[in-house]
Amino acid sequence: MANIHVELGERSYLIHVASNNLQCLTSLLPDLKQSILVVSNPTVSELYFSQLRESLSGHRVVLFNMEDGEQYKSLKSFESVTNRLIEEGFSRDCAIIALGGGVVGDLAGFVAATYHRGVDFYQIPTTLLAQVDSSVGGKTAINHPQGKNLIGAFYQPKAVVIDLNCLMTLNERDYRSGLAEIVKYGIIYDAEFFCWLEKHTDKLSQRDEQTLQYAIQKSCQIKAEIVAQDERESGIRAWLNLGHTFGHAIEAATEYGTWTHGEAVAAGTIIASKLSEKTQRMSSSDFRRVLNLLSALKLPIKAPHMPLANWLSYMQRDKKVKDNRINFVLPVGIGRAEVTNATTDEEIAAVLTECC
Ligand SMILES: NC(=O)c1ccc[n+]([C@@H]2O[C@H](COP(=O)([O-])OP(=O)(O)OC[C@H]3O[C@@H](n4cnc5c(N)ncnc54)[C@H](O)[C@@H]3O)[C@@H](O)[C@H]2O)c1
Ligand SMILES: [Zn+2]
Repeated sequence: MANIHVELGERSYLIHVASNNLQCLTSLLPDLKQSILVVSNPTVSELYFSQLRESLSGHRVVLFNMEDGEQYKSLKSFESVTNRLIEEGFSRDCAIIALGGGVVGDLAGFVAATYHRGVDFYQIPTTLLAQVDSSVGGKTAINHPQGKNLIGAFYQPKAVVIDLNCLMTLNERDYRSGLAEIVKYGIIYDAEFFCWLEKHTDKLSQRDEQTLQYAIQKSCQIKAEIVAQDERESGIRAWLNLGHTFGHAIEAATEYGTWTHGEAVAAGTIIASKLSEKTQRMSSSDFRRVLNLLSALKLPIKAPHMPLANWLSYMQRDKKVKDNRINFVLPVGIGRAEVTNATTDEEIAAVLTECC
């Protein structure tokens, strides 16, 4: 299972997962154009750009460093990258490579989708979250002052290259944040994988290479299967938002500063699972397993306190609201999920009291 195939007809592509992949890029990036813009940030390019450039010798490689941080996934950065492409004389016949976490990937992908109405795009994700989630599936976006990811496009990369070595330089919190999304795949789609995660929490915490190789491949495989069934999120792809409606409320309430995305998703997953337990979608023993796994991975399992009205108001602003009703992704046992808006404010209030 070394390569994962994302099956999307003529937009199909491979995800390569291995250590040292940065050193063999020419063989992994198909039909790579001569002129390449690498979008990265100073933190990541300092660590990995020279390897990348060496690996692509023979190509014209230009580096664009955006500033590091979610607040730079902005219209302003979008404009700066586009200006750079024009200044450097890049034609339609060029490629854009994202070298970085989800912020770099989302912005670079959106530029690739729009420059000359679309140029070749490749993802080299360097955070765990980007490797198992944001680099796969073709969602690209930038933020607007009025909201996260308000401007964007579905635009698939031509390949995703994951180098496990990149994970060794991640700080502890960013690393653990990625683990929250890995747990999500087990809960919504694969009970066996969930069991495997339960048995490998120590190895995951130690960033053991073989364990990571399997966990990342499996996560990408699951995301690839879901995206192949529902590229534009009219059905099952929404399951990937497990824990995110509550999680986004936590992130917004704390002004995107104190909680990482993965931490908020972990606490949000507990709330969603509690709601499932309360509404008989999940047994109490399965709920405990979710709780125990996330806590063994040292992710937060308690959300911050805030009044119900605040929770509801943040969640109403989330994209998942249709006809004024909040859609929740709720686990059905372990291994499946469903989207429902048939929950009452009383049920939500009760689980929030228990989980905050
Ligand atoms: N497109 C999608 O489907 C999708 C899915 C999930 C999340 N996202 C987006 O992803 C973004 C979050 O991504 P993220 O969690 O990767 O955050 P990030 O891109 O901000 O990276 C986190 C930090 O790690 C640093 N970093 C990256 N790689 C490193 C490495 N190998 N070693 C050391 N430091 C490194 C970065 O410079 C940054 O400071 C959000 O904007 C979110 O909206 C998109
Ligand atoms: Zn997420």
